[in-house]
Amino acid sequence: MNILTTGGLGYIGSHTVVELIKSGYTVEIIDNLFNSKIEVLDKIQKITGVRPVFHKVDLLDYEATLNALKCTKFDAVIHFAGMKAVGESVEKPLVYYENNIQGSINLLKAMAEVGVKKLVFSSSATVYGDKGDESGRLIETMITGVEIANPYGWTKAMIEQIIRDVSVSDPEFEATILRYFNPIGADKSGLIGEDPNGIPNNLMPIITNVYLGKISELTIYGDDYPTKDGSCERDFIHVTDLAKGHLSALRHIKPGVSVYNLGTSKATSVFGLVDAFESISKRKLPKKIGKRRAGDLAVVCADASLASNELGWKAELTIEDAIRDTLRYLGNLE
Ligand code: UD1
Repeated sequence: MNILTTGGLGYIGSHTVVELIKSGYTVEIIDNLFNSKIEVLDKIQKITGVRPVFHKVDLLDYEATLNALKCTKFDAVIHFAGMKAVGESVEKPLVYYENNIQGSINLLKAMAEVGVKKLVFSSSATVYGDKGDESGRLIETMITGVEIANPYGWTKAMIEQIIRDVSVSDPEFEATILRYFNPIGADKSGLIGEDPNGIPNNLMPIITNVYLGKISELTIYGDDYPTKDGSCERDFIHVTDLAKGHLSALRHIKPGVSVYNLGTSKATSVFGLVDAFESISKRKLPKKIGKRRAGDLAVVCADASLASNELGWKAELTIEDAIRDTLRYLGNLE
């Protein structure tokens, strides 16, 4: 099967490309290199022995996107490409709406033009807004698209809706929307991972930057939440498990739109993740307790039983595996 991945050199995209190639898929990559590096292509080749065809294309360029789609007869597209920094999306909402939404529209138009009918889309648990039961557990049937905290999250909810509308207009269209929880970790080769350069926003890249001495200390945003240890709890999922979820989604894709949470169904606290990182790396990180961060929820955790029942997919790796793989990746960078 020929698969086109947009954003295939990014963090989740590159790990998925590796798993696809390992499972025998032929993969091509579209990426604008805005938030990724071309060297990742060499790393993918090193891990898999295969160098995927690469198109340096920005999805905002419709003609270039169409040309890339015309190169090969693709069976499906996995759409990762998008800007993802929550804080930046608040500062530059129009850039986010234009890039993520117009980019997705261009991709869908080009797919329609060349007759590619299968799409897997990278969505996020952020589309649930502040929903969730008292335990913070989120399930696919919950209402989405209300009280989303930032423009980045809105772009994900809006693209989900665009995909639903396209599916109504074309009964042959098959789409699977994957709502990711908190990806961490790196490929076990230690060759690809989450690039620690740039200004990180998420907990794990901040921890690694503190570990590398690039950030002087970690601030834990609040220890007064109604949780066991007072810090927020999240469903941290190993990026390789997440990547494998895309293969299961491709295998089970069907007409209409299907939606799945990709998480572990298990919440770990911020203190818990930091403790595990310190004990595995055998190094104490400089840290302090700060104020709560605006928009953070006490607990965000997947109910991932639908993916288990319908896709036969389950996360298998632990946060300890993710930390060990992250440290191997950081070791290779040094
Ligand atoms: C965030 C976004 C979410 C997005 C996801 C992946 C918000 C409210 N949510 O999720 O929309 O889909 O990233 O990009 O921004 N923390 C600290 N110190 C830090 C950084 C984080 O204590 O320096 C804590 C946070 O308070 C949070 C947890 O770590 O409780 C995880 O934070 P983060 O990695 O940013 O992910 P989310 O906020 O869950």
